This record gives sequence, structure tokens and C-alpha cells, in this order.
Amino acid sequence: MSLPDYITDIKKFLTEHGLPNQIDAAVILGSGLGGFGDEIEDSEIIPYGDIPSLPQSTVEGHSGSLIFGNIEDKTVLAFAGRFHHYEGHAFAKTVLPVQLAHAFGVDKLIISNAAGGINLRFRVGDLMIIDSIIKQYTMVSEPALNTWNSSFEEYAQEVKQIARDFGIETQMGTYLFAKGPSYESKAEIRAFRKMGGDAVGMSTAPELIEAARLGVKTAAISLITNAAAGVTAQKLDHDEVKEAADQKKDVFARLVKGLIGEF
Ligand code: HPA
Repeated sequence: MSLPDYITDIKKFLTEHGLPNQIDAAVILGSGLGGFGDEIEDSEIIPYGDIPSLPQSTVEGHSGSLIFGNIEDKTVLAFAGRFHHYEGHAFAKTVLPVQLAHAFGVDKLIISNAAGGINLRFRVGDLMIIDSIIKQYTMVSEPALNTWNSSFEEYAQEVKQIARDFGIETQMGTYLFAKGPSYESKAEIRAFRKMGGDAVGMSTAPELIEAARLGVKTAAISLITNAAAGVTAQKLDHDEVKEAADQKKDVFARLVKGLIGEF
């Protein structure tokens, strides 16, 4: 499966800086969830800014670094900070973490994000296993072409069961990709609910499509950090997202560790 040349260059840079050729698992950390990096033992933290060919992450709540180390007996590569389309990155660039994970031969990828709850049964702080996505017509995915074999859909039940085994109750549902960068209008959320979306966010869908193309076994989890526009009277802001992520960070860490071990 072809990968852009810059992926080879980035991998070369990282192996020259001590990373092994093969890594067991990769984790992409959503807004406010970068603290998971603290769970990684014997870690080596490499700021994105030090890595040639890597675009910089500019969003608040994303620290922008690569963290390599161990979780129990597995080697793990975590991306604290991602590259959003709304920051001006082409879709082809937003999937760079997935491609790099594939280049390191991971046998599992865990993708997380912060999302707004569209489903009226969802509460702030809920974890939703993504079992399908709505990517819409805006999702022109250059690297994925038109292949679509969504392995995360197959794995959603298994992910839910692993969560349960670790004592974590989760929701399951459809992640709707919105381009952003502004939060949605109330009318959009009403429309998205009718379309079947359960949670809305501005990442993840391109990554899932690329992971499917590359045949990487993937689990995807949304942390519901806020009610989507119009669901409650509260105004949306980024602080709310960070606060919810902070409150849930221990449960999130337990789930991701469980998945690294069992998925
Ligand atoms: N909308 C879009 N993206 C988000 C939201 C939201 O309500 N919350 C966190 N990321």
C-alpha cells in the first residue's frame, strides 16, 4: 500500500532518534486528552516542531508532540495533537498519523476525539464507541480514493465488550464529521440528528477512512465534551471541551490501556 515519501523521511528521522522499526500500538489523542501521554512509561517525547516534514498543530488543547514508550508489555506511539482540515491542512495531510502508525507496522490503532453530543440520550462525559461515520460530500479524501472497507464498524462490539470488561460503560453510535472551524448552528444539529448522527466533531473521519485503506485494525472513541448546539441553552466554548476531557481523563486512560492490551 503506497505511502507518501515524507512518511518514509519521518520514520527515518524517528528511528535515527532511537525509535524501533516496529511498534505495537498507536494512539491518536483528541482535544484535551493529550494527558494520556503521562501514562506512557519510559517515554520519549518529541515535539512536532523538531520533526522535519511534520506540519505543526496550532489548536489549543493539543500540545503537538509525539510520545513513544511502553504501556505494560506493549510499545506505544501516541500523537498528542492532530492536523485538522480546518487549520488549512489538506485531507491528505490530516491522515499523516495513521500513515506513520502503519509505517511502524502497528497491529492496532486507537483514535480518540472530543465531540459534541447530538443524541439526546448522551450526557457530557459519556464515551461513545464509533460504529459508523457520516462523512458527507465535503469529505473528499485524496489518499483513500474510493476504497471503503470500514474495519472499525466490525470491531465496535469488541471494543464495547473490552470497555465493559474494564468496568467502563460506553455509548455506541455514529460520528458525524463537520468541517468547522466554527461550531455548528442549531439548525445544522437538528439536520444532523435527522441524518442519524449521534456525535459531531471535526476530525477522525478522514483518519478512519485512511486506516481502512491501509488495513490497520482500528478502534475509535469519542468523548462527549458538550451538548451540540441547541441541545441545551448553554453556549459552546473550547473551555467546556477541555474541562470535560480533564474530568474524564482517568476513565479514558483506563479504556485506552485496556484496548492496548486486549484489542
Ligand atoms: N462540534 C464540533 N466539534 C466538537 C464539538 C462540537 O460540539 N465538541 C467538541 N468538538
